[in-house]
Amino acid sequence: MGSILITGATGYIGRHLVARLVEQGERPRCLVRNSSHASRILPASKVDLVTGDTIQLASLEAAVQGVETIVHAAFVTADRKEKPGSRYEETNVGGTANLVNAAKAAGVKRIVVLSGLGTKPDKAGSYMQGRYLAEQLVIDSGLGWTIIRPSVVFGKDAPFIKGLVDLIRSAPVLPLIGGGTIRFQPIYVEDVATIILKVLAEPERTTSKIYTVGGPEQYSFREIFDALLKATGKKRPKVYAPTPLVGVGAAVMEAVLPKPPLTKAAMALFSFDNVTDIDSVERDFGFQPMSFARYLQEHGI
Ligand SMILES: NC(=O)c1ccc[n+]([C@@H]2O[C@H](COP(=O)([O-])OP(=O)(O)OC[C@H]3O[C@@H](n4cnc5c(N)ncnc54)[C@H](OP(=O)(O)O)[C@@H]3O)[C@@H](O)[C@H]2O)c1
Repeated sequence: MGSILITGATGYIGRHLVARLVEQGERPRCLVRNSSHASRILPASKVDLVTGDTIQLASLEAAVQGVETIVHAAFVTADRKEKPGSRYEETNVGGTANLVNAAKAAGVKRIVVLSGLGTKPDKAGSYMQGRYLAEQLVIDSGLGWTIIRPSVVFGKDAPFIKGLVDLIRSAPVLPLIGGGTIRFQPIYVEDVATIILKVLAEPERTTSKIYTVGGPEQYSFREIFDALLKATGKKRPKVYAPTPLVGVGAAVMEAVLPKPPLTKAAMALFSFDNVTDIDSVERDFGFQPMSFARYLQEHGI
């Protein structure tokens, strides 16, 4: 498979990918910002930890030396509040530009990017515009590239689902943002890892492609709440929450809470249906992905 560098290795998708690569007998190099934190999350004796930060170009030089392929998953996602050193534009655009430049200088052949469904041009300086620019940097880099855009991811402690379960446990009523009609196509984290492994194993077929991937079912936001209420055995009334009002609430929570349940940037997820073709995974990667309903039945939340 050639030597692989994973950025965002300590993140939700990154750590599942690392585990799967190690299972296959690979020894991936992992770019981490804090090696003692990373040693608690990753199988430290079976990977090479390299300390670096994508917003500091000089810190990437050693990390990319001798690497054939980079899997880039180091982003500040919309569900996280910005803080010094973790800002959307600085990390998602600036960090990707640094990584691309370091990769080109070191002769890296290929970069595989973990992006998100619905990435498109948007207002200058917005979260979505930053994600779009990050993709463009990679497409224009001259490196071989593949972009994977998953819908929301589920699995043990998956951030999106965990946020909703925390809300079910703590809030007396559940807000149906914009009426709860926006649709999602949850995909299992292990299936996302399988897709990345297939992309790594088949460079000829998958280079210069953008893959939008989702699970085998689509759910409205209301139906996701219903599935999670069933899985947790809780009953909560759901109330219509107009999107502009929720946006104001998110801004207030972001101003006062260190880890707000909703951010202003995450509101972007509720402005379009987060779905793709129902057979996207089977068609492009030849396997049947896990159903969200079946996962909840078999594993609980
Ligand atoms: N999880 C989902 O539901 C989902 C769905 C669709 C698409 N995606 C996309 O998949 C990608 C990965 O998502 P995720 O859920 O795995 O994210 P995550 O859990 O928030 O992890 C982000 C990772 O990026 C690292 N990172 C952040 N800033 C960095 C920097 N400046 N330098 C180096 N590393 C940095 C973090 O390291 P630290 O440990 O040091 O913070 C962490 O390892 C993102 O592009 C996301 O949009 C995720």
